[in-house]
Amino acid sequence: MRASWLAALGLELTRIARAEAGASIAAARVARANVTFGPPKSAASVLLPAGAGRDDRDVRCALEDRLHPIVAKTQLSPNVTRLVIEAPRIAQIRKPGQFVIVRAAEGSERIPLTIADADVARGTITLVIQAIGKTTSDLVALAVGDAIRDVAGPLGLPTELLDHGHAVCVGGGVGTAVVYPIAQGLHAAGVKVTSVIGGRSREWVMLEDELRAAGEVVVCTDDGSYGRSGFVTQALADLLADGGIDAVYAVGPVPMMRAVAELTRPLGVRTIVSLNPIMVDGTGMCGGCRVTVAGETRYACVDGPEFDAHSVDFAELSDRLSTYRDFEKSALERRQCATTVPPEPAASTAGATR
Ligand code: FAD
Ligand code: NAD
Ligand code: FES
Repeated sequence: MRASWLAALGLELTRIARAEAGASIAAARVARANVTFGPPKSAASVLLPAGAGRDDRDVRCALEDRLHPIVAKTQLSPNVTRLVIEAPRIAQIRKPGQFVIVRAAEGSERIPLTIADADVARGTITLVIQAIGKTTSDLVALAVGDAIRDVAGPLGLPTELLDHGHAVCVGGGVGTAVVYPIAQGLHAAGVKVTSVIGGRSREWVMLEDELRAAGEVVVCTDDGSYGRSGFVTQALADLLADGGIDAVYAVGPVPMMRAVAELTRPLGVRTIVSLNPIMVDGTGMCGGCRVTVAGETRYACVDGPEFDAHSVDFAELSDRLSTYRDFEKSALERRQCATTVPPEPAASTAGATR
């Protein structure tokens, strides 16, 4: 199934490239229309002449060739920033659980980020970014008015939402931003939602007010500086003990998702986790995001990113996430050197007189 989809997509991409290389704008637009997701919109274009009409290039394989201005920026925790960016067509068609692949500027690395929210009327999507490496640091250094080069999406399968009953949404740290659209979707479907969110201490807790709009919220901090003291898993264990939970959706550090799976497994409570392997193309072609689920190789970008927590090989995921740690560390160090202005040399005091 995937093979035939990929073959068709590859064919279309080749046609687009050929049409554009032949400077046949009309042919390029026809070819692009075949891989366009969602209804067309009007937008400025760098390839089409001004006034040429609709831009049909909001497609899901890094073909969107439009800048995405940042319209709002907020600091949510010491290393987490919320950016609201223009991406009208993605805003129209995205669903909870989906993500985009973002390239900050020409030549930048492409990284996956969850679509944390969207405003169809304003034509914007919200990204919540934890600055942990070079590319995420570059992104959060952008200011309102700056623009992101490419945003491809929505990618990944939408969340399988319950349609009744009681769901618990567990968010650890920046994972709260990933679980937020799921809580919104469940609430909109009429499901009772309890969110359990955690941070190292008070200033690391995020989106509490936004999640309250979807239901009850239990806040936890590791040091007890706000809400309950302890990990989110301790609060979840209490909720599970009370019974009546139909599903748990959990996103956060791998050890947290693994601990959640071990809590719900003996109770047989359906548990969904959103996996975050390293991704490259986001279209199922490179194999970078492969994970093992129920003993089978799956590609998180096209088969996920959400999977049944009880079937995930978390040890392999942790291992694969650390594969490029040395390269990532040196990329961040090079960025820090490049962005640190050396101090002015101290004025010489030789010969100074009082
Ligand atoms: P790198 O230099 O690549 O890495 C720095 C450190 O982060 C290293 O320790 C490395 O092991 C670790 N790291 C690298 N890639 C990942 C990863 N995929 N997940 C976890 N740790 C990683 N991050 C957000 O802040 N907000 C989101 O909404 C978000 N959504 C995601 C959705 C999906 C489907 C996936 C797969 C990942 C998501 N991530 C999200 C993680 C984000 O893509 C990575 O943090 C980012 O690629 C790191 O890039 P970097 O160059 O800044 O850091
Ligand atoms: P963090 O390390 O500060 O932990 C946040 C909370 O998670 C803690 O307060 C605690 O309640 C819980 N937690 C942590 N370790 C736990 C454990 N061993 N057992 C039980 N609960 C535990 O989180 P952070 O620095 O914000 O990092 C968030 C993590 O989320 C990153 O590791 C990143 O890989 C992951 N992430 C996942 C996705 C995704 O799509 N799956 C997206 C973005 C980030
Ligand atoms: Fe390349 Fe998923 S990111 S196969």
